[in-house]
Amino acid sequence: MMPMSDRADHVGPAGGHRSTGPRHHGADPASVRAFFAPKAATWDTKFPDDTPAYEAAVAELRLRPGDRVLDAGCGTGRALAACRAAVGADGVVIGADLTPQMLAEAARAGRDRIALLAEADASRLPLRDGVLDAVLAAGLVHHLGDPAQGLREFARVCRPGARLALFHPIGRAALAARRGHTLTPDDVRAEPNLRPLLARTGWTLAAYDDSDERYLALAVRDPG
Ligand SMILES: C[S@@+](CC[C@H](N)C(=O)[O-])C[C@H]1O[C@@H](n2cnc3c(N)ncnc32)[C@H](O)[C@@H]1O
Repeated sequence: MMPMSDRADHVGPAGGHRSTGPRHHGADPASVRAFFAPKAATWDTKFPDDTPAYEAAVAELRLRPGDRVLDAGCGTGRALAACRAAVGADGVVIGADLTPQMLAEAARAGRDRIALLAEADASRLPLRDGVLDAVLAAGLVHHLGDPAQGLREFARVCRPGARLALFHPIGRAALAARRGHTLTPDDVRAEPNLRPLLARTGWTLAAYDDSDERYLALAVRDPG
């Protein structure tokens, strides 16, 4: 695992933020870690049938051998094997997450052998400009205190034409129902909010699917 520093510079509300659904924590790194650390050990066993959905989401990134891909907020790294299979031995796969316990589980599952695991804030990535061909962010964007900053950061580290997949293995309504939430119009993942947000942060929304089966917003990095 590559330890990376982070900065608590986008402090969100302390306490629950219900309006976008599942974010139950403040957006500062300490709150994120406190929320996710206890979930790490059982993360993979809770929804063991999700693998094909992750593989399908990674397929939408249209990765080619030799490509460089980031799984932002990778958790235990459920998407990393599909990313490695797509980019091959010559490609680069990075899994970045704020929560060390999630990364430790990824390593325990042997995923540190197929990807570089980095403890890093997705909104402040330790990567140079334009180095990536694709970013997957599964279950991440609504956990960010400042989603615009996160999307802007993904644009910074991506080359023009790179693809971004914002993904979740079930749709927003099904997820909200599972968690006892009500969807509200200010949900950052809702298309009317997400499309202009992407446009402001260097991306063009290319496809949007929010069915019971999955949430997938695909975007392409704008030129320049
Ligand atoms: C809902 S989990 C999803 C994990 C994984 N992507 C998956 O689909 O199984 C959200 C993950 O995002 C991480 N996370 C939240 N905010 C983050 C941030 N600002 N930077 C990096 N990781 C973050 C959490 O630690 C957690 O592991």
